Amino acid sequence: MIKWVDVYKSFGEKKVLQGFTLDVAEGETMVIIGYSGSGKSVAIKHVVGLLEPDAGTVVVDGKDVPSLSRRELYNLRGSIGYVFQFAALFDSLTIGENVAMGLRKQGTLTAAEIAHRVQESLELVDLPNVQDRYPAELSGGMRKRVGIARAVALRPKYILYDEPTTGLDPVTSAVIDQLMIRMRDRLGVTSVVITHDMRSAYTVGTRIAMLYKGRVRQVGTVQEIQHTTDPVVRQFIEGRPTIEEEEPVGSGTGGARG
Ligand SMILES: Nc1ncnc2c1ncn2[C@@H]1O[C@H](COP(=O)(O)OP(=O)(O)OP(=O)(O)O)[C@@H](O)[C@H]1O
Ligand SMILES: [Mg+2]
Repeated sequence: MIKWVDVYKSFGEKKVLQGFTLDVAEGETMVIIGYSGSGKSVAIKHVVGLLEPDAGTVVVDGKDVPSLSRRELYNLRGSIGYVFQFAALFDSLTIGENVAMGLRKQGTLTAAEIAHRVQESLELVDLPNVQDRYPAELSGGMRKRVGIARAVALRPKYILYDEPTTGLDPVTSAVIDQLMIRMRDRLGVTSVVITHDMRSAYTVGTRIAMLYKGRVRQVGTVQEIQHTTDPVVRQFIEGRPTIEEEEPVGSGTGGARG
């Protein structure tokens, strides 16, 4: 279970989260949608303790993240796969070494088991032959998939995907969507997926939450979100450029009324 409880977070004058509350149940895939700059990445960075709330808290697996010691936080991070928005790979390491890094740190598998796990994880994201190449030799979409392979290689209980399909072609995006569904159905992974891609949101989400002005504007099943009557949520999911007026007020100041 992952839960944000009344989280506030500002950077200087900039208020980002303002009473953000959301519960992600075990086995669920919670999709978070919202405008660019609304604080989606900030919200998930709190889950792994990369950011600390100004007020409120975040609870993962029953543990109060902001109050964990360094060591406890380190252990918690071992159970969370984090797919960064901008695939943060080590340029000086091969793809295979990048994917293996977390497993080596865990120190529970033998070298042969790690090699096997790395191969298997890269196959899952449809990149079976890139182990010995370097990040600079891959396209942006391929690097993104390596970031996903690295997260799933740990067989984590939780996976946080920050825009896993942004910048990918439609077919590769669909492959990633299927992978996220497989992680949930076969391995029982609980995940949070940040996306702008509504097609992906409807495909992978068990529920969808919209972050707006620092809070959850609405959270519901795919059906509930698709049928929402909230104008802010409607506008976002339909990708309309402006909010329609509630109702035309009179006939304006033109000459029509005479
Ligand atoms: N470490 C930081 N220091 C200062 N400001 C930050 C920091 N991290 C995020 N912000 C600010 O917080 C706001 C929310 O950023 P965030 O990255 O969470 O947006 P987002 O919803 O993920 O947007 P996008 O969809 O573009 O990825 C932005 O105004 C950003 O500039
Ligand atoms: Mg972001």
